[in-house]
Amino acid sequence: MSYKEQLDLEKLPSHVAIIMDGNGRWAKFRGKPRTFGHRHGVTAVREAAESAAELGIKYLTLYAFSTENWKRPKFEVDALMHLLLQTINKEVKTLNKNKIRLNAIGNLDSLPPQIYKRLFQTIQETAHNDRMTLTLALSYSSRCEIVDAVRDIAREISENKITADDITGDYFNTKLPSYPLPDPELLIRTSGEYRISNFLLWQIAYTELYFCQKFWPDFRKEDLYEAVYNYQRRERRFGKTSDQVQKNIADEG
Ligand code: IPE
Ligand code: IPE
Ligand code: MG
Repeated sequence: MSYKEQLDLEKLPSHVAIIMDGNGRWAKFRGKPRTFGHRHGVTAVREAAESAAELGIKYLTLYAFSTENWKRPKFEVDALMHLLLQTINKEVKTLNKNKIRLNAIGNLDSLPPQIYKRLFQTIQETAHNDRMTLTLALSYSSRCEIVDAVRDIAREISENKITADDITGDYFNTKLPSYPLPDPELLIRTSGEYRISNFLLWQIAYTELYFCQKFWPDFRKEDLYEAVYNYQRRERRFGKTSDQVQKNIADEG
């Protein structure tokens, strides 16, 4: 039986986030330039988005470019930006057909102006879609967004809009660009690396982590189903004991 057939559609994660890693190594194994891997990564993006939407996952967040990635060779950065623009232009129809809303988080001002403009056009053109929200993390740094949120709150205090006592976790959350997305229940990282690389540090406090050995260009629908299948077999305790969690489930039933 395939993983998909074994999924409990009543217990899907509402938000899945993915660190799409391994494009460069995928290409290197084939004796090709790293950019070849990035181009093939687009197929995997399509597979992930389609499979998530088909399952009924409401939010999919993809880590596409970190602020640290600006430090890569100019040739690679330019190729990635070009690919981003090309992909947005090409996929807008499919997004609308599949009722997927595009969203973006990150230091978007630092994107090349042409991409920034096209990105926001597409966000507007897909704003009415309600099947799934696809968030791209672009020029993204979680530490940066946390510092920005702190600065924002400090300013509100200095302007007497709020007091220090108004700062709660929930309030802080509203200052992050990911708001109002729910925290991801499941975070997938491909390529066999076991780190977070400055992604959604606040939001993943209780997220289930899943590490997939495949390089990103090889990621297919079945890999997403497998990750969700694995997630559904875990017990999320949130600090409680297993007995408490089991009892709650029984109480609810
Ligand atoms: C992920 O693949 C894509 C981006 C970070 C833009 P990499 O380019 O990091 O590929 P590896 O990890 O070097 O193989
Ligand atoms: C993380 O991958 C960023 C993205 C997937 C966009 P990296 O390849 O940049 O991460 P490190 O450098 O291996 O931690
Ligand atoms: Mg990498």
